[in-house]
Amino acid sequence: MLEHGGRLGEAARRYGIPRADWLDLSTGINPRGYPAPPLPPEAWLRLPEDDDGLEEAAAAYYGSAELLPVAGSQPAIQALPALVPGERVTLFEPTYAEHRHAWRGRALRTCRDAADIEAALDATDVLLLVNPNNPTGVRFAPEKLLAWHARLAARGGWLVVDEAFMDATPDGSVAREAGRHGLVVLRSLGKFFGLAGARVGFVLAPAALRRGLAEQLGPWTVSGPARHVARAALLDTAWQADMRERLAAEGARLAALLRAAGLGEPAGPALFQWVAHPAAAEIRDRLARAGILVRLFARPASLRFGLPPDEAGWRRLEAALAALPACHTSRPCSSTAT
Ligand SMILES: Cc1ncc(COP(=O)(O)O)c(C=O)c1O
Repeated sequence: MLEHGGRLGEAARRYGIPRADWLDLSTGINPRGYPAPPLPPEAWLRLPEDDDGLEEAAAAYYGSAELLPVAGSQPAIQALPALVPGERVTLFEPTYAEHRHAWRGRALRTCRDAADIEAALDATDVLLLVNPNNPTGVRFAPEKLLAWHARLAARGGWLVVDEAFMDATPDGSVAREAGRHGLVVLRSLGKFFGLAGARVGFVLAPAALRRGLAEQLGPWTVSGPARHVARAALLDTAWQADMRERLAAEGARLAALLRAAGLGEPAGPALFQWVAHPAAAEIRDRLARAGILVRLFARPASLRFGLPPDEAGWRRLEAALAALPACHTSRPCSSTAT
């Protein structure tokens, strides 16, 4: 099993700080997620059925009905290699590590920018990328992705786009193109909607792939309570519009805070900011000793910061960043506490 953010229990034990005292910024999950409506008793008592309106709500939200609900995008990530043919797999990296893990055993090639991808494309059967990327925040325009898809599909290749962090900027999505041969789009309700615990996501793909995936995952993959909450969230366009505005402002605020702290130039979608820094491990450790959990990446040495949930959280983060030693920041020594 790979390591992920959000392991608060482990951090609490390691640093001897009670769980309740942490400011957990280690994931890209919206800290003010969708307020789940009360559940009708039958959501618990009956097996889930697929005529409850979830698929229709999702079709309206994603702009395509070529979709399959799944228990988060993670099971789809794991199942895809068995359903998508092709030996030569190109990954845009660094990225969410579960993708590489799922495709292990194939001929994997890493690309680090668009020029690399262009160069690899004609010798690629499957191109897989996360857009916007986690953790680096790199983003590819839909026109570029569709051009790559056309080149791949023309000779039976596939483009897999993981859009887990696309909800705040829906214009960047290629989901509405779903159904084209050789295109798979993964979506999650765990990030923008903050419903990570509900385990709901969608695979947008041609019908044959969806049938294979449904077969592989088996019946009742998404629980009745999760389907109920997901449907409400996908239909609530007023909440979505309001959240997009808030997240844009908060993402910009977080980027400004990290920049002002002298940690370098942050990048990311609204839900998190990523900074590459040679002292990333030590900075993470110092923040953890102040009860602030951020996500450390080893290669390249870097940190990912999620959004604080409230003003107290913002102030706490600001104070902890100001207390970092000057050797870890580009701030002048005189303005730096130790
Ligand atoms: C890029 C990306 N894709 C997919 C996932 C899986 O999310 P979920 O299974 O909750 O939909 C994550 C989780 O962190 C992620 O970062």
